Amino acid sequence: MSRLVVVSNRVAKATDGKGRAGGLAVALQDALKKLGGVWFGWSGSVVAKQQDKPEIVQAGPVTYATLDLTRKQYNEYYNGFANRTLWPLFHYRLDLAAFSQQNYSSYREVNTLFASKLKPLLKNDDLIWVHDYHLIPLGEELRRAGVTQPMGFFLHTPFPAMEVMTVLPSNLDLVRALCAYDVVGFQTENDLRAFLDYIVNEAGGGIMGNHLVHAFGNTLRVEIFPIGIDVEELEKTAQEVGRGKGSRRMRIKPSNRTWIVGVDRLDYSKGLVQRFQSFERFLESHPAYRGAVTLVQIAPPSRSEVIEYRDIRHTLEGEAGRINGRFGEFDWVPINYLSKSYTRIELVGFYQASRIGLVTPLRDGMNLVAKEYVAAQNPEDPGVLVLSRFAGAARELEGALTVNPYDADGVADALAIALKMTIEERLERWNAMMDVMRANNVTVWRDNFIETLRGAPYEV
Ligand code: UDP
Ligand code: G6P
Repeated sequence: MSRLVVVSNRVAKATDGKGRAGGLAVALQDALKKLGGVWFGWSGSVVAKQQDKPEIVQAGPVTYATLDLTRKQYNEYYNGFANRTLWPLFHYRLDLAAFSQQNYSSYREVNTLFASKLKPLLKNDDLIWVHDYHLIPLGEELRRAGVTQPMGFFLHTPFPAMEVMTVLPSNLDLVRALCAYDVVGFQTENDLRAFLDYIVNEAGGGIMGNHLVHAFGNTLRVEIFPIGIDVEELEKTAQEVGRGKGSRRMRIKPSNRTWIVGVDRLDYSKGLVQRFQSFERFLESHPAYRGAVTLVQIAPPSRSEVIEYRDIRHTLEGEAGRINGRFGEFDWVPINYLSKSYTRIELVGFYQASRIGLVTPLRDGMNLVAKEYVAAQNPEDPGVLVLSRFAGAARELEGALTVNPYDADGVADALAIALKMTIEERLERWNAMMDVMRANNVTVWRDNFIETLRGAPYEV
């Protein structure tokens, strides 16, 4: 059987510690843990001088091969082009996107470097699967270096509408690089549609039917592969936590309070400021809940060397303080804002202890927290998921109460509806969501992608 070689900027082995949570690492860890393979990417370290060869660590069936970044690469490739240009642009934040030719050059150089360090590790029948916006040009660089194995790419973030994509000065160069892969996967129909729109109207390419696209002289297969979670594993953990294991922290939950939980990296795409303000609106318009409901928001800092992330942190801390000052009592704090990361077992405890999972990103590729909240619920008394229509997960989880995160009144009303929802309705919604999540768990996601990659090369 072919070996799977996964490539991503973030590698879970190097980031097992707290504070580096993110959906990509969590999903890839789940996808690789039974199947095994190679996981190649950044070590998470910034060094003065780069090593010649990747550091190789074998852990169970997975071979981790990681490279350090120099300070310049870290600033210009990771903080710069990846997280100050592509991330805000792909999340429709043109106001926050910064453009610099120097950062783009560095981004391309790091991709060339990754390709040259990966190539000697490859075997003839490997399948290469590259992940996310940091490494779009990697496939083109591998081809240039003579690599002929099937190569696929999966974008964990949204692919923006053509009008947004074309704001990027190097957009054509970047999409040309994306078209060097045999398979390109997106989270939702929306992302695929935006990509096809670009191919036809900007790149002069053609849609050939049967999921095939011809552009820049290459034929590639494009499809949606909505990412899932390990539902079974999470249910198992939830049962253990429900029985009292690992949930010491949860025993401090006061029995006379209802919890609403939010869990997000501290990122402006997650809509945290709007979420706090919606909760404030809820307390204004539903005074009976004052003193009875607490919003527990877990928000571990992320990408904190990027100025926009420092700004959002200050704004959020300000809002939490203001709202708590306005409504708090000596024995009740409306927003319990926890700016640190928790392990998954701890998170399961928080999910279970909360009547509502509040997931309101302004834009999100998928959002695994939404799925984890649902999977962790007590099957006999499940909570309610309140979910932004702008999260990829909203396309699948029709049992959620869908909200527009910009509409504070709408979110406030949804919270009130969720708090009053009958057990019959909660069960019906929860079962519908569990059915979808079981049918499309992380293994299905991985296997569907790999199967499609095995069919390469594709010809028209
Ligand atoms: N996560 C975690 N500890 C935390 C916060 C988040 O392990 O303190 C995990 C969470 O369980 C989820 C992932 O980080 O699996 C976040 O993925 P999601 O798709 O929701 O958002 P992303 O961070 O990838 O944008
Ligand atoms: C999102 C991105 C991932 C990234 C993660 C955490 O999920 O799609 O590529 O790994 O956020 O961000 P970080 O910058 O810490 O890797």
